[in-house]
Amino acid sequence: MSDGASTVHPAWLPAEAFGALGRRHTLVHGTGLLVDTVVDEVAGACGRYGGTVRRVPADVPATAPSPVGPAGGPRRHVPATAPSPPGDLLLALRDAAALPAWARRLTAGADGPLGDEGFLLAGSGDRTLLLADAPAGLLYGLFHLVRLGRAAFDARPVECHRPALARRMLDHWDNVDVHPVTGQVERGYAGGSIFWRDGAARGDLARVREYGRLLAACGVNAVAVNNVNVHASGARLLTERLGDVAAIADTLRPYGVRVHLSVTFAAPVVLGGLPNADPLDAAVRAWWAAAARRVYDRIPDFGGYVVKADSEGQPGPFTYGRDHADGANLLAATLAPFGGVVHWRAFVYDHRQDWRDRSTDRARAAFDHFTPLDGRFRDNVILQVKHGPMDFQVREPVSPVLAAMPATRLAVEVQVTQEYTGQQRHVCYLGPWWSEILGFAPWGPQGPTVADVAAGTASTRDPRSGAGGGRSATAGGGLVGVSNVGDDPFWTGHPLAQANLYAFGRLAWDPGLDPVAVLDEWIRLTFPPATTGDPGLVRRTLHAVLDGSWWTYERYTAPLGVGFMVRPGHHYGPDVDGYEYTPWGTYHFADRDGVGVDRTRATGTGFTGQYPRPWSERYEDLHGCPDELLLFFHHVPYGHVLRSGRTVIQHIYDTHFAGVEQVEAMRGQWRRLAGLVDPALYARVSERLDEQRRCAAEWRDQVNSYFLRKSGVPDEHGRRIW
Ligand code: GCU
Repeated sequence: MSDGASTVHPAWLPAEAFGALGRRHTLVHGTGLLVDTVVDEVAGACGRYGGTVRRVPADVPATAPSPVGPAGGPRRHVPATAPSPPGDLLLALRDAAALPAWARRLTAGADGPLGDEGFLLAGSGDRTLLLADAPAGLLYGLFHLVRLGRAAFDARPVECHRPALARRMLDHWDNVDVHPVTGQVERGYAGGSIFWRDGAARGDLARVREYGRLLAACGVNAVAVNNVNVHASGARLLTERLGDVAAIADTLRPYGVRVHLSVTFAAPVVLGGLPNADPLDAAVRAWWAAAARRVYDRIPDFGGYVVKADSEGQPGPFTYGRDHADGANLLAATLAPFGGVVHWRAFVYDHRQDWRDRSTDRARAAFDHFTPLDGRFRDNVILQVKHGPMDFQVREPVSPVLAAMPATRLAVEVQVTQEYTGQQRHVCYLGPWWSEILGFAPWGPQGPTVADVAAGTASTRDPRSGAGGGRSATAGGGLVGVSNVGDDPFWTGHPLAQANLYAFGRLAWDPGLDPVAVLDEWIRLTFPPATTGDPGLVRRTLHAVLDGSWWTYERYTAPLGVGFMVRPGHHYGPDVDGYEYTPWGTYHFADRDGVGVDRTRATGTGFTGQYPRPWSERYEDLHGCPDELLLFFHHVPYGHVLRSGRTVIQHIYDTHFAGVEQVEAMRGQWRRLAGLVDPALYARVSERLDEQRRCAAEWRDQVNSYFLRKSGVPDEHGRRIW
């Protein structure tokens, strides 16, 4: 593949998606970099579809002209003297110019603030108004019009859209050098990095800009550009290689995406030559303060740092007898004058555990480390918490940390890259899972949800959620996803994994969206009806393949929430005992009588006690615990009868057979699209579905054989088990 963006799949922004917009006569009110982007986007669409665009004040020069226009093409200039047909679409910054009477009529009574990123849409049928208070709102509104297509221009009452979460961020686990074990992108399944190659910046800014466009069009507004495991070259992005980061920031800025950097806690030693990195040492503090000043000199809107400290071998404050709050607050103090934040990761546990030790439970670790520190973190520290207590397994309960730190800004971290969900070789649409996580109500059905916690509004919704009280919406930590993007021509290796990236952004903007409806948006944009042979069939087939694919993946892999039956190291494919006697703290404890981890207060590790009611009670109770999490919380005999009425052992057999059959069905469904969609995309998906079928059968046979041999209980249906 060449470096040029033109060879890259357009994902959810193909030219055809701009057809309805490009036929309008558009007037833009406003100035500024992001308004330039809006004008460029509209002008690009008009160039193709015959509409026009004018701007008031007319033809303001861009504040920072960008080297490329939409789709990586040359920047379009809007002539100052463009003909002026009557405008039927007005894209307006509220204070840029007086609204015409028709627009004032449409918005009568809708005077509330729209915020930094919100927008208002209203239409009479003849004319449509998109209004925003700030340029980013206009940009998000523009992509909303694209998403709606022709329907955007129907008569419609005033609608106001504001993001539920202020922070919507992707973390790239991209290495600057090719790491001998983890490669160019740690847990990357889509080729190399779009930022770095073999120790250097790629310099392919057209592709980076294209990426920024895609992010803005699904609602993402921040990226961290290097791996949380910060190796030698990655560390230097903070200092002598800052120019590389600034170039990325300049390229993403026109799409409203701010750049963050993963930094090593040992930076004062490894970069600054100091004897230690003790967070309470004056020289260390001065070093970080100077580093922050240099960063903001080059990148005035720099987002901040991401830090993995005292975790899996990364350096941290423990070395100096300090705690996570000491470490995070040191960095936060140096970023605060410039408006930056520290994303401090809560993924901290003992990865050198003795498997014989039954008292240590990895699931407990984040809660035990961090909840005693609640209230000690500065306002610009965001504690970034993995959504589950373990590590992105296909099924985990929601992390109890999210319900236990009311005086701390919390971000929820999900993994868009499919490390444990098929590594972008398997179809696994993650939208339903994230939606379930964000909608989970830790204090019971009437209380706030995980999305409220991430938005910073939980304690205003329900006093039971903590004593912090009254934090504003901007005080939430938001949603963070580990990116699944690489330099692959389809961006994500598996073309259908683009849907996960899209859904991540959309659910971060509005966690209440129906994930199937989000998928439908993605299908309509990515496979525009005009470009497919049979739009109805394409749409039905993509839904059939994707809608339930997370549950399918769960069926043929690790059962009932037990997790981690994967090949150690690369984590692809089955290995039931792969982690059973390792130091990583990831066990299923299967023996001849039963399986599962006893995490109860009564007889186990006590993890259930980390939840508030009602979940502390439900998870503790063998009969109240949801089936899908049974083996996460309880060790049970194979004959234990699930709420579904089936025994555990029969559930294991049945789901593994069913999962493979479902993958076979997916393959059959996909074949109906031969000749109806882009042949390269068709071929890529077909090849991956073949691999998914092979791998699913391997999972089925290994898991079923393992449990038949352990338990000696035959399958009720007499199917072949090896
Ligand atoms: C997982 C993953 C690692 C990653 C770690 C993290 O353990 O396998 O590659 O570094 O998560 O989230 O920091």
